Amino acid sequence: MQKFVIHGGRRLEGEVTVQGAKNSALPILAAALLCEEPCELQNCPRLSDVYAACRILSSLGCRCSVSGHTVRTQPGPVEETWIPEHLMQEMRSSIIFLGAMLGRTGACTLGYPGGCELGPRPIDLHLSALRRMGVRIREEGGVLRCIAPGGLHGAKIHLQFPSVGATENILLAAVLAQGETLLTNAAREPEITDLAGFLRAAGARIEGDGSSTVYVEGVKSLHGCTYRIMPDRIAAATWMAAAAACGGELVLRGAAPSGMESLLDVFEQMHCRVRTEQDILRFHAVQPLHAVRFVRTMPYPGFPTDAQAIVMAVLCTARGTSLMEETIFENRFRHVDALTRMGADIRVAGRVASVHGVPALHGAQVAATDLRGGAAMLTAALGAQGETVLSEISHIDRGYDAPEEVLRSLGADIERV
Ligand code: UD1
Repeated sequence: MQKFVIHGGRRLEGEVTVQGAKNSALPILAAALLCEEPCELQNCPRLSDVYAACRILSSLGCRCSVSGHTVRTQPGPVEETWIPEHLMQEMRSSIIFLGAMLGRTGACTLGYPGGCELGPRPIDLHLSALRRMGVRIREEGGVLRCIAPGGLHGAKIHLQFPSVGATENILLAAVLAQGETLLTNAAREPEITDLAGFLRAAGARIEGDGSSTVYVEGVKSLHGCTYRIMPDRIAAATWMAAAAACGGELVLRGAAPSGMESLLDVFEQMHCRVRTEQDILRFHAVQPLHAVRFVRTMPYPGFPTDAQAIVMAVLCTARGTSLMEETIFENRFRHVDALTRMGADIRVAGRVASVHGVPALHGAQVAATDLRGGAAMLTAALGAQGETVLSEISHIDRGYDAPEEVLRSLGADIERV
């Protein structure tokens, strides 16, 4: 079991090249299953979730080789339409392979994804959309058997909620389906535009991605391509949060500031200074930080739920009281206990947390509860006085590419033991 040992209170300063986006890399790897020729994915982050996605691809007959930040996929005949249970459990977002498998073979059997650390994660929107595209779905003892007897066909689909995963699964199923698909109330996250960009590079016909109405015209086949994965806006926000918690100055290179407006706005409300030029983001945290009256997580372009815990860790020592409302996931305040053990004053009532700024946090022994909750504890520890031992860091490795190396290069005192 690995841990991070952090001695907090060091000012952070320097340059970081932002890693590729986890939430683009995973659906794009699933999309590679649809291509009849090899693909090369550049700027792929080195993450346990990416390796799990590669293992799923290999189990389905598509060979994957990883070299640094490049993943090459080599399609082969798909002999298996069953995604093994242990691989489904390894990665929460393995459901994204359902649309790709149905698009490729018209059939897929997979374990029903169970609950996760953020609360129940239903897939009703994915399934009802796929049914409209001609898929018959039977659930037997926790296993989903999906088959499209006459092949997939396009459909008019309206999502009750702009689910990121459902939008991606519909895109993956629609690109090789017969006819046209019109999707309304689609999720608009930049990572969806990135997936659509990859699919277009492989020959798909998609319009409107990034808006709530997406149109797909099915094509006969997809070819291979080389594609560069977009920068990770949540990793960029994490390094800004770390600098804000410690006081510091960062230059983030290879960032995508245009997809980060709601995040940058919250840092500016804390009185941090942010300047952007194309793919460069200059960040200067001016102490003392100010509380933010109200932050509500919302689908894009609203404030991302994935940054809620990380920003909360910074607000623990901001002057005044900040209110944070979590509207996307039911159980996304599990980091609060650890932050409280580090001296934070946070009260949770239902989906709202009120964070009363304290002068300083102190180190403690804490365990990561989930990916972003773990990143919040890491952020808090970097700004805290004394030593923090952070365990269960495999959660953090699901989403951050060598985080201790990034932070050490900025002057942090952090070790993986
Ligand atoms: C994706 C991201 C995750 C992010 C989330 C919200 C990836 C790999 N993961 O997750 O990091 O936190 O978007 O921005 O990209 N829901 C239903 N029924 C469904 C589908 C979703 O009720 O069929 C609910 C979920 O329970 C949740 C909410 O909708 O409460 C948002 O889920 P969704 O947008 O689908 O998130 P994911 O795709 O799972």
